[in-house]
Amino acid sequence: MTSEEDITGDHRLLIGSVTDYAIYMLDPDGNVVSWNPGARRFKGYEDHEIIGKHFSAFYTPEDQATALPKKALKIALSEGRFENEGWRVRKDGTRFWAHVIIEPVIHPVSGRALGFAKITRDLTPYKRQEDALRRSEQSFRLLVQGVTDYAIYMLDEAGTVTNWNAGAERIKGYGPEEIIGRHFSIFYTDEDREGKVWERALAVARFAGSYQTEGWRVRKSGERFWASVAIDPIRDDQGNIIGFAKITRDMTERRQADQALEAAREALYQSQQIEALGQLTGGVAHGFNNLLNAVVGSLELLRKQVRDQRQLGLIENALKGATRGITLTQRMLAFARKQDLQVSPVNIYELVGGMTDLLSRSLGPSIELETSFPSSLKPALADPHQIELAILNLAVNARDAMPNGGTIKISAKNETVVAGGEGLLKPGEYIRVAVTDGGVGMDQETLAKASEPFFTTKGLGKGTGLGLPMVLGTAEQLGGRLELESRVGEGTTAALWLPVSKPSPAPLPVASGDETSDDVTRSMRILAVDDDALVLMNTVALLEDLGHQVAEASSGREALRIMGEDAAFDLVITDQAMPHMTGSQLIAELSGRWPDIPIILATGYAELPDSLPSHVKRLGKPFWQRDLARAIADASAAPYRG
Ligand SMILES: Nc1ncnc2c1ncn2[C@@H]1O[C@H](COP(=O)(O)OP(=O)(O)OP(=O)(O)O)[C@@H](O)[C@H]1O
Ligand SMILES: [Mg+2]
Repeated sequence: MTSEEDITGDHRLLIGSVTDYAIYMLDPDGNVVSWNPGARRFKGYEDHEIIGKHFSAFYTPEDQATALPKKALKIALSEGRFENEGWRVRKDGTRFWAHVIIEPVIHPVSGRALGFAKITRDLTPYKRQEDALRRSEQSFRLLVQGVTDYAIYMLDEAGTVTNWNAGAERIKGYGPEEIIGRHFSIFYTDEDREGKVWERALAVARFAGSYQTEGWRVRKSGERFWASVAIDPIRDDQGNIIGFAKITRDMTERRQADQALEAAREALYQSQQIEALGQLTGGVAHGFNNLLNAVVGSLELLRKQVRDQRQLGLIENALKGATRGITLTQRMLAFARKQDLQVSPVNIYELVGGMTDLLSRSLGPSIELETSFPSSLKPALADPHQIELAILNLAVNARDAMPNGGTIKISAKNETVVAGGEGLLKPGEYIRVAVTDGGVGMDQETLAKASEPFFTTKGLGKGTGLGLPMVLGTAEQLGGRLELESRVGEGTTAALWLPVSKPSPAPLPVASGDETSDDVTRSMRILAVDDDALVLMNTVALLEDLGHQVAEASSGREALRIMGEDAAFDLVITDQAMPHMTGSQLIAELSGRWPDIPIILATGYAELPDSLPSHVKRLGKPFWQRDLARAIADASAAPYRG
């Protein structure tokens, strides 16, 4: 009986039509005895080319070398079946991935092996797909593994970490062996862990399909970092959640950079606001200074002519109001750093000593004054008048903070600022003048705002809120600063830092109480220059009242013309801020042509060149008649007149 006899006609028909499987028979030695369309299709041999040949022709040279075909038959015989997958070779030499089954065909009666049935299937397309999938999974794993900017890892259903990438290790600090198998709540802060924030996160991811947030997380080292977190559920083919994908990004630096940027923006905005306010305040104060000059001048002259007591009282009132206005404009100019500062070496010890009367009068009997100065105290480079005003302002604030009375301590000491030290001060030597009280103190918010212009807690009409801004402006214009230290209920220390003056201090200018016209004995011819008609009229009136003969000019050019026609003047008094030609430009012209003429420059505004010729005297605006008289005396007493 041959093997063909075992195959019935029906079977033959069936096998003859199968094209997806190669189904054929081998004789006991392994030679091909039958061939079907499937075999023809994917092995490429026609019946006559292969029948009678040994089936090892389908194997690769490598497999032939290891005698795989022989082994396959042996296994089929001994175990009843040989099954494997592997590369096989077509007639044209190309390879295909085959799934192979070999079974022995045994004679039912004799039990003799008649040969082998062989079924082969071409799995190349599936193999390619599988390989591609495996390759892509592998590269994806490598990609995720290699990402260091993001922590990317997975959690199981309960939140246990199941894998870990390089970014996770970098950001969180744990190696994979330390963290895989542990619960991810370890990354949360203690508060969040107690509040079960992580549980909510997984619940949201589960029900909403994703969870995203920013917040503090904790590294292995215990350090906190600002994290951007995303959690997404992972589902199996049936849609059941089998875990979570978690991506975390360390935003700490970004957050810090954002915050720094925000702070810088805020600071810039603040400084621009203060700058704008300074411009405005300075401008307004400058205008008012001129007006007050006219008001005060006229009132002074009027006061001399009026005899009626009631009328005199009214004039005194008006003068008091104008004086308050002058103080206000001075403070505004100081805040705007636009004061006309007259800087000289100042002995703070002597200066405060000279103020004690003024201080005890201004502070009242319930305040005790205490001072403390080291004998080694260096002279400050400052405007003594402005420093007096500043100390007075600080002392009044200190008194106001002690409604039931108390002690105010004024002290000073030498300080050295090194590079990068004390706030914004340049490195160098300073004097720190401190005014300390044991009053109500300030809370953080008040302290932060205290030196802002117009900030006051004293109620409308009581405080202007310009005291500290004035002190601050003066200090800064002099190259120093204002330091405020305060605690609620414990009192306040306000300290002025002033640069040290190198040379030894000149004795304080004696504050002479001299009154008006006694200073001037002779009548002079004076040329008065001012572009503001009101101010000019006032100056002229004051000068004439002092017994002088006055010519008027409303501009620098007009002044030069008048001088050109008739130079027989004893003195020129000019305003600084004028269109076309400023006071200092006029002085330069005058000094070139009439070098001997004494000049007074009247200004209330820091717009002067740093150095003025020595025969030019400054007169601060607004001025009283006695200030004017003294300036005239000083100017005409200048040495070159000798
Ligand atoms: N020594 C101090 N103790 C407690 N608070 C103070 C002290 N100095 C200043 N302050 C607070 O700072 C605010 C601003 O002070 P600032 O001197 O600028 O204006 P003011 O004193 O209110 O008004 P003015 O100076 O015109 O009288 C005060 O209203 C007060 O709230
Ligand atoms: Mg004040």
